[in-house]
Amino acid sequence: MVVKEKKSHISFLQCSGCNKTYSVHELQTFADCEHCGKSPLIAHYELLDGFRKDEIDLQERSMWRYKGMLPVLDEENIVSLGEGWTPMLLANRLAAKYDLKELLIKDESANPTGSFKARGLSMAVSKAKELGVDCCIVPTAGNAGGALSAYCAKAGMKAIVVMPRHTPEAFKKECQFFGAELIEVDGLISDCAKKVAEIKLTTDCFDISTMKEPYRLEGKKTMGYEIAEQLNWKLPDVILYPTGGGTGLIGMWKAFHEMKELGWITGSFPRMIAVQSANCNPIVQVLEGKLDTVKNYKGSATFANGLAVPTPFAEKMILNVLHESGGTALSISDDEIKSAMKEIASLEGLLVCPEGAALLPAMKILLDKGEIDRNETILMLNTGSAYKYL
Ligand SMILES: Cc1ncc(COP(=O)(O)O)c(C=O)c1O
Ligand SMILES: [Zn+2]
Repeated sequence: MVVKEKKSHISFLQCSGCNKTYSVHELQTFADCEHCGKSPLIAHYELLDGFRKDEIDLQERSMWRYKGMLPVLDEENIVSLGEGWTPMLLANRLAAKYDLKELLIKDESANPTGSFKARGLSMAVSKAKELGVDCCIVPTAGNAGGALSAYCAKAGMKAIVVMPRHTPEAFKKECQFFGAELIEVDGLISDCAKKVAEIKLTTDCFDISTMKEPYRLEGKKTMGYEIAEQLNWKLPDVILYPTGGGTGLIGMWKAFHEMKELGWITGSFPRMIAVQSANCNPIVQVLEGKLDTVKNYKGSATFANGLAVPTPFAEKMILNVLHESGGTALSISDDEIKSAMKEIASLEGLLVCPEGAALLPAMKILLDKGEIDRNETILMLNTGSAYKYL
C-alpha cells in the first residue's frame, strides 16, 4: 500500500458551467445553478506551488503514485486494490498491417475487476469513506457496478447496483460475489438511473453515478498522467477512446491541462477521438448537427454495453474536449466490433473488450479519410477485458 508522503494539493470544487465553488470537506454531488442548470463539479488543485514531477512515488505501481494531484485528504481513507499503472503496449503487428509508424494500446484490462472503471470507483469510494458514507448506489452498464461492488466490499460499505437485465451474467455474478445488492432493470443505463432516483427516495444511499459525483473523474484522469509518464512526457498525436458517459475522455483532457500548468509537459495535446456504437451514438448525432442535445436521445442495446449511454450527463464537457482538441466522434456497428475483436486477438494476443475493439475500425475510417496520418503516434485505450462478455 501507499507510503505516506506528500498531501493532496486539492483546493476546491467548481461548477463546470460557471465559477461557483464548493467545499472539498463536504459530500458533494453536482452543481444545480440558476443560470447553468445541472452541471458536473470539477476538482481544482493548487498548481503554482503544486505537486512536483520528482514527487511522483515511483515505488507505488498504481494510480496512487500521483496522490498529490488526487483528492483524498487523509491517506488512511484510500481504498485500493492496485488499480492503474497498466501496461502501455506496442501494437507492432497491427501497425505493420496498416503501415503505421507507431500504434500503442494502453491496456486497462489489467485493472482489478477487469476494467478502467476500477480507477474511478477506487477514488469515489475512498472519498465517500473519507466523508462518512456507508452505502453507495450506482446505475451501470456493467463494469462500473462490478468495480463499485469490489471497492465497497474492501471499504466495508454497502453497495446497491442497478444494471440492465440483458447484461451478460458474469457482470451480475461478480457484484453478488462482492456482496452487493443487485437490481435488474429492463432497458439501458438511463432506465437504471430512473430506478436509482426512485430507490433514493426511501434509502439513504450515496449516488455515485459518473459525473454526478465529482471524484470518479479524478480516478479516470490518472490514465492521462500515466500516458504521459509512460511515453516519457511526450503525448501521442491521436487518442481513440470508447465513449459512453465520457468520463475517461474528460479526465485525460483534464490531466493534460493540469500537467501543462504544473510544467510537466510542453507542446500540443492529442486529438481526442470519441468512438461510439452505431446502436447508441448521441455524441455523434450532436456533432453531426442531427440533434441539438442528447437529452431526448433514445439508443438501443449493443454488444459494447459500456457504450449504451443515451444521455451522457457531461455532454457539454465531452463536446468541448472534441472541439478543443480538434478531434471528432464516430460510430461503429456491432458486427464490425466483433470482427475487430478477432483481428486484435489474433494479431496482438489481446482479447480486448468490445468497447476497446470498436477503436480499430474507427481508426481505419479516419486513416482512409486522411484525418489520421500514418506517421502519427496513435494510442488506443482498451478500457477493459473481454472475458465477462463471452
Ligand atoms: C469497457 C468500457 N469501456 C468504455 C466505457 C465508457 O466509459 P466512459 O463513461 O468513460 O465514456 C465503459 C462504461 O461502462 C466500459 O465499461
Ligand atoms: Zn454553475
